[in-house]
Amino acid sequence: MSELDSLLAALHRHKPERLEKDAEIYKIMARVFDSSTLLTLYRMMNRGVFEFVYGAVSTGKEANVFCAADQIGNFVALKIYRIATTDFKSMYRYLAGDPRYARVPHERRRIIFAWTSREFKNLQRAYEAGVPVPRPIDCEKNVLAMEFLGEEGVPYPRMKDAAPEDPQRAYQILLDAVARLYRDARLVHSDLSEYNVLLTPDPVLIDFSMGTELGNPMSREYLRRDLSNLVRYFRRLGVDAPPPEELEKNITGSEHP
Ligand SMILES: Nc1ncnc2c1ncn2[C@@H]1O[C@H](COP(=O)(O)OP(=O)(O)OP(=O)(O)O)[C@@H](O)[C@H]1O
Ligand SMILES: [Mg+2]
Repeated sequence: MSELDSLLAALHRHKPERLEKDAEIYKIMARVFDSSTLLTLYRMMNRGVFEFVYGAVSTGKEANVFCAADQIGNFVALKIYRIATTDFKSMYRYLAGDPRYARVPHERRRIIFAWTSREFKNLQRAYEAGVPVPRPIDCEKNVLAMEFLGEEGVPYPRMKDAAPEDPQRAYQILLDAVARLYRDARLVHSDLSEYNVLLTPDPVLIDFSMGTELGNPMSREYLRRDLSNLVRYFRRLGVDAPPPEELEKNITGSEHP
C-alpha cells in the first residue's frame, strides 16, 4: 500500500452500513486532492476535528465541501481549497486589498493558505460578534472545518433555491447581520447574495472567503454590492426595501464616498 493509500484508508473508516457511499468518497478524495491535502486532513482527524468523511456536498470553482462526522456524531463541514486547480492570481488580487494580507508572498500555496485562513478568521470574528454564521471549528493550510448546517448530511437549502417562509423576517435578519458584521466585526462579506445564504429556516451567512476588513479601499463598494443584492432579492418577494444607498448610510453613518 502506498503512503497515499494508507492515508486515504485512515481517512475512510469503514462503516459497514455505508460501505458503498464511503467507497465513492474514497475515490473522489483520491482524485481531487494532492497528498499534502490528504496529510492535512489526516492531522485534523488525529486532532479529533472529525472521525470520518460522510459525503460530498459541493464542488465549487475553488473549493470542495464535504460533510464529515466527529466522534460524538456531530456533523462537521470541511471546506477544502484545491491546490492545483485554483485561480490563485485573482485570490492574490483580492487578498492584497485587505490590510491583514497585504504582504502575502506571490506563491500559489501561500496564497491559497492565506485565503483559507482569512475565511476562517472572518468566520471567527463574525461568530463572536453574534452574526448568524456556521461556528468555526478549525483551520489548517487549505482546509477549514466548521459547523455543518443541515440534517443527516444534507445541507439546508440555499436562499437561491428556496424562498424564505417569512421574507420580511429573513430580510430583517440579513440586514441586521450585515450591520453587525460592519459595526462589531468590522468586516464586509463582499460576496453576499442568495447563493451564500442557507435557510435553517432562518437565514445564515456562509462563504466568507471574500470577507474583508474595512481598511480595504474597496470595502464600501463591496458593502453597497452586498446590500444591492439583498434589496434586489427581497423586493422580488414583495418586501418594501429602501434603496441600498440609504441602507449603506444607516449602517456606516456616512454617505457613499
Ligand atoms: N457550514 C456548512 N454547512 C452545510 N453546508 C455548507 C456549509 N458551507 C458550505 N456548504 C455547502 O457548500 C456549498 C458551497 O459552499 P461555499 O459557498 O462556501 O463555497 P463555494 O461558493 O464553492 O466556494 P468559493 O466561492 O469560496 O469558491 C454551499 O452552497 C452549501 O450547500
Ligand atoms: Mg459560495
